[in-house]
Amino acid sequence: MTLREILIAPDPRLKVKSEPVERVDDALRSLMDDMLETMHEAPGIGLAAVQIGVAKQVIVMDLAKEGEAPEPRYFVNPEIIWESEDFHHYEEGCLSLPEYYEEVERPAEVKVRFLDYEGEIRELHCTEMLAVCIQHEMDHLEGILFVDHLTRLKRQMILRKLSKAKKQQAAELA
Ligand code: NI
Repeated sequence: MTLREILIAPDPRLKVKSEPVERVDDALRSLMDDMLETMHEAPGIGLAAVQIGVAKQVIVMDLAKEGEAPEPRYFVNPEIIWESEDFHHYEEGCLSLPEYYEEVERPAEVKVRFLDYEGEIRELHCTEMLAVCIQHEMDHLEGILFVDHLTRLKRQMILRKLSKAKKQQAAELA
């Protein structure tokens, strides 16, 4: 397993639409292993492949709390096949937008169809944190970040600050 670099916004590679995966094979499982390790290390609870610069429809997730046994989940080519009519607000964060948290409104529950780690077709009814997280990660596959759900003003403020921090970091390394 290898730790990968997580892309930080603003980065054009985060806006790329991810392609469906043709086959769940050892190469893809190796990518998922790297993603899980990278996400745990960050630490985070969800990561889309595009966040490490691989524009494939692959998501890893682990919602286990600190001190609990890990509960890795893998979603390949996920699609939402049902969503609830009621919405929930939840404060979201993202490994590609470090240190920013904002409320986002999304359907409270969704049903997702996807391929798992072994390439088997599965369906999952997602509620609460799982529903928030899968919708957030599936947005990444469309090149959408959680700040894209906010007002333009808020989004620009956050992206400007991140951009400034990146330039500062680059200058310090130079
Ligand atoms: Ni994210």
